Amino acid sequence: MRTLASRRQLGYRIAPLRHGRPGPHTMISPIRTVAPGESAGSLARELEAGAVLLFPDLPFPFSDFEKRFTERPFADGKAKNVNIRGEAAELRGAAGTPEEQEALRQILIRYRAFARDLIGTYLPDYADRVSLAGTSYRPFDVDRRKLSWRRDDTRLHVDAFPSNPIGEKRILRVFRNINPSGEPRRWRVGEDFGSMAEKFLPRVPRYSALSAHVLAALRITKARRSEYDHLMLHLHDALKQDETYQASAPQADVAFRPGATWVTFSDLVMHGAMGGRYMLEQTAYLPVAAQADPALSPQRILAAKLGRPLHA
Ligand SMILES: [Fe+2]
Repeated sequence: MRTLASRRQLGYRIAPLRHGRPGPHTMISPIRTVAPGESAGSLARELEAGAVLLFPDLPFPFSDFEKRFTERPFADGKAKNVNIRGEAAELRGAAGTPEEQEALRQILIRYRAFARDLIGTYLPDYADRVSLAGTSYRPFDVDRRKLSWRRDDTRLHVDAFPSNPIGEKRILRVFRNINPSGEPRRWRVGEDFGSMAEKFLPRVPRYSALSAHVLAALRITKARRSEYDHLMLHLHDALKQDETYQASAPQADVAFRPGATWVTFSDLVMHGAMGGRYMLEQTAYLPVAAQADPALSPQRILAAKLGRPLHA
């Protein structure tokens, strides 16, 4: 007889396909270049289907004074990034004189407005539904210190936040390479989320509502972890831990040149940051219900693979 504990150790089972047909073939996330002046058209739908939208040269000029922020890192070095949060836009992790820190803060405030404008122009149906979260300045090269496999973002992964349950929200990110000396930001992108999930779901331990409740009661999580959050954290870890998958999974190299802006759902698109320094990044949250097609969300893809709704 199995105990409750041993039963929970078993991985998830993929539900048989209703029509007995294999799913679509594995697809590597496409890089979709958006031409200047192009109308919004179907961009939201392409983004939701796993594309990275690339805007090669939207203007975001720096003043002469501000150019110093791409010449050396104005960071205290304690955290990976410098960022602002919330309406007050309090600056965290920065270094420099008070005047320099205020100028850096103003760049991040301006970048947040730039990201909001981009969403308003090219993803107008999201404009009223999206909420903008942290804005970051990332002056350091991709972290190659082998801290731990879990924090190694050169490994292909989808984003999941351990202490901050996401539930029915999507993670939409707007990146910009501000490198002054021609150095690209280099990424790898991987296969589509559904193909990845089929391989990894059987390795994920079953969700326990009880342990989610305990984690929240102990304030280890800021809210109760849903089954979706549980799945995403375990997929993130299982992906990063699998050296064979990292080396041999379907993937493509991408180089984002200085001046490029790119937008993607980082909870859906498999990515690894391989190199480059000096970047700006805006995180935004979008409710699944605000998508053009909610069925394309990782929340609904996982439910379809398991053949049932996820526990809220
Ligand atoms: Fe990531």
